[in-house]
Amino acid sequence: MDLYLAKKQESITGSERKYLMDNTYWDNYYSTMNEWIEPSQFAKDILPIADKGKVLIELGCGNGRDALFFAKNGLKVVAVDQSKIAISKLQSTYANENIEFIADDFVHSNVLGSDSFNYAYSRFTMHSITEEEQDILLQKVYDSLKINGKLFIEVRSVKDDIYGLGEEVGRNAYYYNEHYRRFIVLEELTQKLQSIGFQINKAVEANNFAIYKDENPIVIRVIAQKS
Ligand SMILES: C[S@@+](CC[C@H](N)C(=O)[O-])C[C@H]1O[C@@H](n2cnc3c(N)ncnc32)[C@H](O)[C@@H]1O
Repeated sequence: MDLYLAKKQESITGSERKYLMDNTYWDNYYSTMNEWIEPSQFAKDILPIADKGKVLIELGCGNGRDALFFAKNGLKVVAVDQSKIAISKLQSTYANENIEFIADDFVHSNVLGSDSFNYAYSRFTMHSITEEEQDILLQKVYDSLKINGKLFIEVRSVKDDIYGLGEEVGRNAYYYNEHYRRFIVLEELTQKLQSIGFQINKAVEANNFAIYKDENPIVIRVIAQKS
């Protein structure tokens, strides 16, 4: 993080600080991204239950590994991320008729229209937003899905080993390693989804889903359907 931003943070708080910190963190992170990497285990596990030719929106595609995996395997994909660096690299290298990349804030973006998508996919992004943003987003996702459309979520749990590390900035929310994470309580997430109208097809909380280097966090997986 540069000195200007570090200084600016002394006088700003709340959502503006989160926006600045996270944008800077992820832009820096993706500026060193040069090549295609393996899709996540979550994407590999979801692919068999997603029908070819259907339209999927990815909320927070990062370096595009899962979005590209879905598109290569027959889905039409719209991939959104706030990182202009990540999205411009993806647009210049990988955009084609089966995949579109959009630089935007997925909470407030108009890309989530009405009755537009068969699937919405969020891997490790629901914990990047505040509870208020999550409430806005989940309703918008519900509205944007077609009947029987599915929402796939993989997200950090309050049972994660790194829960509680760093600076506490809200309920279950911390700045750690220069970016924001809000750890999720499984039952609260499923209740919220049900209150919006989703049916819960699957809700699990376990490790061995998202192994990365020497980390094997307990994560939550939810599949919710608009019925
Ligand atoms: C932990 S990374 C996960 C990336 C990807 N889903 C994966 O699994 O590799 C979180 C991503 O969410 C993006 N993100 C977080 N909040 C966002 C928001 N409100 N709108 C758009 N993108 C967001 C970040 O820029 C970052 O690329």
